[in-house]
Amino acid sequence: MKNFLVTGGAGFIGSHVVEYLLKEGNRVVVLDNFHDFYDYQVKLRNIGDAVGFHLIPKSDSKDSDILSFAKEIKTESFELIYGDIRDQELLEILFKKENFDMVIHLAALAGVRPSIDNPLEYESVNVKGTMVLWEICKKYKVNKFICASSSSVYGNNKKTPFKETDIVDFAISPYAATKKSTEVLGHVYHKLYDIDMLQLRFFTVYGPRQRPDLAIHKFTHLIDNGKEIPFYGDGDTARDYTYIEDIIDGISKSIIYLIDHDNVYEVINLGESEVVSLIEMIATIEYFLDKKAEINRLPMQPGDVLITNADITKAKEMLAYNPKTTFKQGIEKFIDWYKEHTQI
Ligand SMILES: NC(=O)c1ccc[n+]([C@@H]2O[C@H](COP(=O)([O-])OP(=O)(O)OC[C@H]3O[C@@H](n4cnc5c(N)ncnc54)[C@H](O)[C@@H]3O)[C@@H](O)[C@H]2O)c1
Repeated sequence: MKNFLVTGGAGFIGSHVVEYLLKEGNRVVVLDNFHDFYDYQVKLRNIGDAVGFHLIPKSDSKDSDILSFAKEIKTESFELIYGDIRDQELLEILFKKENFDMVIHLAALAGVRPSIDNPLEYESVNVKGTMVLWEICKKYKVNKFICASSSSVYGNNKKTPFKETDIVDFAISPYAATKKSTEVLGHVYHKLYDIDMLQLRFFTVYGPRQRPDLAIHKFTHLIDNGKEIPFYGDGDTARDYTYIEDIIDGISKSIIYLIDHDNVYEVINLGESEVVSLIEMIATIEYFLDKKAEINRLPMQPGDVLITNADITKAKEMLAYNPKTTFKQGIEKFIDWYKEHTQI
């Protein structure tokens, strides 16, 4: 049994990581501030579903709901801490008490377009917050660290598929720039303080509990409710969508790799390596919802990249990463989940 800190563990990817780690018999501490980027009740449900606890409080107070939930859900192997990764005093108390074997750092302000409206907050959470974590890891000698990066660092890279060795100096959103910055800073902490680190570049992740702001979830909700979907550009934009179970396969193998190896710093793509256009994405949702989409054509949005496409050779060779879910299979599973849950 190992002791993990999962930052952002109440979010989409984080809650699946928590579920996986608990199933494997580990102890898990989640640190999450339930940022208002989306409804805190959705995040309580994520964590509840991950640990098999289904009593979600609902009062007028976010703080009291989260605190009472955290109290109820606490066990020997699981604890939810309601707090900010930038809170140095809180981290000091936490790291003094816990003897963490590894940090899986998923807390961030995600989302490309909102980062254009709010670049300073993105920088503060994603860059400063990550450095605060490394400072405390350095002090308490926690030297195994997995960090969430993003395919957005590739910007409008002309060459596809995107490989880890491609130059990524041309970010086109503040969000992408924060992720590139933490890759660079991570190397500094690895070199100076021996923190073994994997920087995982996730390619548009989807599946049960997907963030409500992300296109697949948002479009499913709009189509299901007979509302128009915003259709940016001519429909040729394309994404390498990665099903959540495949991302968890990549993260679980990253954990094993970090435990088995020392002196590690690597950047690794985790994608599906199947590229799906916007038009195909909408058609697949329509098919499994058995409803037609109403389309509102709009110009391309600033910050949005044209295509993402992962070269996953490195992940396959280094980690034995083995993504299996086709887009059709993944959307079918997502829509099954969507139908069973209260939406957004
Ligand atoms: N979902 C994707 O397709 C995708 C793609 C590439 C990279 N990523 C990265 O993966 C990670 C997880 O993404 P997600 O989709 O699960 O997002 P999410 O928003 O569902 O999860 C992030 C969690 O971090 C928490 N958080 C935000 N600021 C915090 C702070 N200051 N202190 C503590 N907690 C804080 C939020 O409350 C949230 O629960 C992020 O780092 C994101 O940038 C996601």
